[in-house]
Amino acid sequence: MAKLKLQNLRKQFAPQVVPVKDISLEIEDGEFLTLLGPSGCGKSTLLRLIAGLEEPTAGTVAVGERNLNKVAPGNRNMAMVFQSYALYPHMTVAENIGTALKIRKTPSAEIQSRVAEVAQKLGLGSLLDRKPRELSGGQRQRVALARALVRNPDVFLLDEPLSNLDALLREQVRAELKQLFDSQNKPVVYVTHDQTEAMTLSSKVAVLKDGLVQQLDPPRRIYTHPANEFVAGFVGSPQMNLLTLRCEGQQAFLGDFRIALPDFSNPLSSVVMGIRPDDVSLATPEETQTVQGEVFLTEGLGKENLISIRIDGSDTNIRALLPADRAWEGNKVTLALLPEKIHWFDVKSGERLN
Ligand SMILES: Nc1ncnc2c1ncn2[C@@H]1O[C@H](COP(=O)(O)OP(=O)(O)O)[C@@H](O)[C@H]1O
Ligand SMILES: [Mg+2]
Repeated sequence: MAKLKLQNLRKQFAPQVVPVKDISLEIEDGEFLTLLGPSGCGKSTLLRLIAGLEEPTAGTVAVGERNLNKVAPGNRNMAMVFQSYALYPHMTVAENIGTALKIRKTPSAEIQSRVAEVAQKLGLGSLLDRKPRELSGGQRQRVALARALVRNPDVFLLDEPLSNLDALLREQVRAELKQLFDSQNKPVVYVTHDQTEAMTLSSKVAVLKDGLVQQLDPPRRIYTHPANEFVAGFVGSPQMNLLTLRCEGQQAFLGDFRIALPDFSNPLSSVVMGIRPDDVSLATPEETQTVQGEVFLTEGLGKENLISIRIDGSDTNIRALLPADRAWEGNKVTLALLPEKIHWFDVKSGERLN
């Protein structure tokens, strides 16, 4: 019914300040799209363009067939939730939640029932008479969400809504958010720099860098098939190993060892090899593609240890997630680099090659 459509959006603040360069996206009803990227990549600016809080330098924002470029923010029927909860301190929880309805002159009986319904859904039912200062951070964030939900908007926009919560609470509210939006049949655009939020909440993720979309895909695909070196390095924790290797024919050289290259159409003189620490394992005798090196650093992560290895015959390091039940440091290890776990990227453009 209400597909949100962004076409060639651009926002230029000054000659050298163009946080959104050229972005086109379509978000269907019930779709949860996350804009994921490092601080300063243009996420909030894009969200503000959608909300109408910024005017685009070029391009259009539309819901369904309706072009919204000339529609004031207040008339777009979009609900926005910010990182700072921005609650009214002198109003009760119920008044905070109902305020948008009151402004729209909704009858007070209806306000009361809608506020009660949303508060119930968010576990705020017993807190309706409190003031924001009497709430915990998690409860305040829930009030901010309730305020968005009660309006029954055409589009939900959320800008880093969990950033002000501590880690434990963030995990809890994240799970609540997921349940909540699974049952909403409206487009949701969610901004975060946190890859875990992006991976857990989204039906699709748009990875942003320098005002451009680097990859638009379901979260699993972003992880298994990063479109370029930037996405590969940004998504996944611990970070993917990205090593620049010299090549000759069908082989790349890593210290004393050789790595088989896929059949690229053009011969390369060098290439970036990517492999996640989770995908590097201790070699068994049958393994053919292995590298050896010495462990010089061990970082305990609880279940596993993150090990840094200096590869023999090079000054290149590789990191591997290995069992935590042994002392690794100072030991020689032989690691398997399985061909199907390796991502290849072009040295110059950073684009994925395999
Ligand atoms: N009103 C503005 N005037 C000038 N520059 C701005 C304005 N708003 C944002 N910027 C700049 O645009 C860039 C992207 O900002 P923002 O969209 O907030 O990034 P993000 O949300 O991804 O961290 C930043 O360099 C910021 O300084
Ligand atoms: Mg921001």
